[in-house]
Amino acid sequence: MKNWIIATRNKFFHFSYINVLKPYYFRKDPEDVHDRMTQVGQFLGRFWLTRSVTSLFFNFGHPSLEQTILGIRFRNPVGLAAGFDKDALMVDILPSVGFGFEEVGSITGEPCMGNPKPRLWRLKKSKSLVVYYGLKNDGSEAIATRLSKKKFRFPVGTSIAKTNSPDTVEVQAGINDYVKAFSQFVDIGAYFTINISCPNAFGGEPFTDPDRLEKLLTAIDKVATNKPVFLKLSPDLTEDQLSKILDISAKHRVHGFVSTNLTKNRNNKKIIDEDVPINGGISGNVVRDLSNEQIRFIYNKTKGNYVIIGVGGIASAEDAYEKIISGASLLQLITGMIFEGPGLVSEINQGLTRLLKKNGFKNIREAVGTKK
Ligand SMILES: Cc1cc2nc3c(=O)[nH]c(=O)nc-3n(C[C@H](O)[C@H](O)[C@H](O)COP(=O)(O)O)c2cc1C
Repeated sequence: MKNWIIATRNKFFHFSYINVLKPYYFRKDPEDVHDRMTQVGQFLGRFWLTRSVTSLFFNFGHPSLEQTILGIRFRNPVGLAAGFDKDALMVDILPSVGFGFEEVGSITGEPCMGNPKPRLWRLKKSKSLVVYYGLKNDGSEAIATRLSKKKFRFPVGTSIAKTNSPDTVEVQAGINDYVKAFSQFVDIGAYFTINISCPNAFGGEPFTDPDRLEKLLTAIDKVATNKPVFLKLSPDLTEDQLSKILDISAKHRVHGFVSTNLTKNRNNKKIIDEDVPINGGISGNVVRDLSNEQIRFIYNKTKGNYVIIGVGGIASAEDAYEKIISGASLLQLITGMIFEGPGLVSEINQGLTRLLKKNGFKNIREAVGTKK
């Protein structure tokens, strides 16, 4: 399809989402809408016809967006972040929505109901969400069984976290839980992400502590897999904590970092809304700059030797481009899609081709980490 046709199509869907669908959805309970979207996505993914029509509405491809990273072929750099497709129910439809990859989960060793409801809120003025799901998911066994015979149409990463339960608070029990889930996915998906930064689980984030992280990564190293492993980090880490995590990662099978997860800090100046729930981590606009700073820090400190997946507050092609020039080769989002609609993925990808060209880059690889 010609560029101007795609741009017109994207504008039409953006206008329709902002003026019709979003006002309707935003009156409803956020978790109910999330569940409904998952059901719709699951249905649309089931049939060739519905996948093709969805693709006609949302798809966009361009050679400058293609990359092979750690042996994995990505059609474009925009992925769905962990937490939206918790139980891996949408893997069939997301390529048609224009995503270049997705991260399913976070998946834990045991099934988990998550925290009591309500556990998802919109901060409308701040263009952010407060998330207190607490790692709700069907558990590694059920999800691995569901995915075991599936052929994926794009790279699928598996986000692994520790079951949210008092039973996994003790360090070795927590490690065993991670290893259990990890081991069940060695033959499924393209890469792993170890989520050590869930802000909403029993016992906090114990594996940001250097000694415990060392033990966790030593155990993960022993699982037989040649798939790349990423660590998902909190935006609330200090530079000192981050440096220690980088030093430990260098001694283990870690290929990259996902920067970042949700912030817990309620003093963030980007929070405009008055009523912010006490529990939960914050996404979207509130976390964008923190994520960008962390990406730059890791990229500079490790001299670009790690693959960085930039996530946090991407709601436009400009936001995506900023993360790329800060050091990210791949991107993920959730909140931007909720505030701007699913057409955002195509808008970002088309916008990126324009921004790359404008700044004299032939492709994403050339632009990564070029911010002065
Ligand atoms: C509803 C929701 C659920 C999430 N659940 C998870 C999760 O299970 N595991 C995880 O690593 N991150 C989770 N996250 C964090 C996102 O993956 C992402 O890091 C964060 O939302 C920042 O990106 P965004 O601003 O584009 O949403 C969740 C985020 C949202 C909004």
